[in-house]
Amino acid sequence: MRVLGIETSCDDTGVAIFDTRQGLLAHALYSQIETHREYGGVVPELAARDHIRKAIPLVDAVIKAAGCAAESIQGVAYTKGPGLAGALLAGSAVAKGLAFSWGVPAVGVHHMEGHLLAPMLEQDAPQFPFVALLVSGGHTLLAEVKGIGEYTILGQSLDDAVGEAFDKTAKILSLGYPGGPAIAKAALQGRPGNYQFPRPMTNRPGMDFSYSGLKTFALTTVQKAAGDADQLDQQTTADIAHAFQEAAVETLVIKSKRALKQTGAKRLVVAGGVGANLRLRELLTQMTVSQNTKLYFPRIEFCTDNGAMIAYAGAMRIHQADQSTAFQVKPRWSLEDLAPI
Ligand code: KG4
Ligand code: ZN
Repeated sequence: MRVLGIETSCDDTGVAIFDTRQGLLAHALYSQIETHREYGGVVPELAARDHIRKAIPLVDAVIKAAGCAAESIQGVAYTKGPGLAGALLAGSAVAKGLAFSWGVPAVGVHHMEGHLLAPMLEQDAPQFPFVALLVSGGHTLLAEVKGIGEYTILGQSLDDAVGEAFDKTAKILSLGYPGGPAIAKAALQGRPGNYQFPRPMTNRPGMDFSYSGLKTFALTTVQKAAGDADQLDQQTTADIAHAFQEAAVETLVIKSKRALKQTGAKRLVVAGGVGANLRLRELLTQMTVSQNTKLYFPRIEFCTDNGAMIAYAGAMRIHQADQSTAFQVKPRWSLEDLAPI
């Protein structure tokens, strides 16, 4: 089965072709960072318009890069949700249009299931069962995964997602957009111990997260240090970025350790944009070694949004394709509502 995948849930247009026998044949990504940078965050309407402009040229490019004929594609997968409604509609319209013209099925994929299955694209893919730590701009959750579509959420963020906290704190520190990589870069120059941020919700049982307090803590820290982010010197900015990052990622590690203990799982899979954070990778590596647990990550480019994960998840679910030519998207959609396959 050869499936074309189209990802358009937020600000990246990702397209890929996955073949269940030959693996990933080609993938391409167009990032809208430059479009949104001047606004300091994603502007949904601009995102949708950019997806419309870029999707078809990317489809042409991956078909060419894969060296296959369009006629050999047996299904089209697109991100149905969760995400920005207009952006999702753009991808679903392109996917359904292509599928209709090629006479093949189209299947709507859950964006977070795509992230969760992204490590399956690697040589050393995890076996089921495992615990998944999904950390992106819109989600922070721990799930017990017994198979595709067999997900039990162990804990999730009650307010902001961890990626959102990175983005908002970067804005407070005037580090720009996108915030995650900007904080990580600044933190490299930070001196440990100058500032201490809390580890939210770690002093009570459970695996839920709360990240909105960290952003507020960053704001009050900046106000105490200089009154205004514009007045902060580069070293203080780096010190605060460092302290924020330590708190944000250590909290993820503490909760992941609890999830492993509670489930008895011996495999931990990390996916989503914040999974690209090197400090998180380092601390999770230390924790899993101490717990005798194997750790799995997708390659860095498949941590953030991409078409490959949608093509893979779509290939697994192509039998669930719906025949409707209506564009249906689900901006809000729980992983637990997915059917097992
Ligand atoms: O999975 P993703 O590409 O899109 C969503 O589904 O949301 O995740 C994007 C999030 C953003 O909040 C971004 O700031 C964060 O991932 N991110 C990072 C890093 N790279 C991306 N956060 C921390 N460190 C990074 N290196
Ligand atoms: Zn994502």
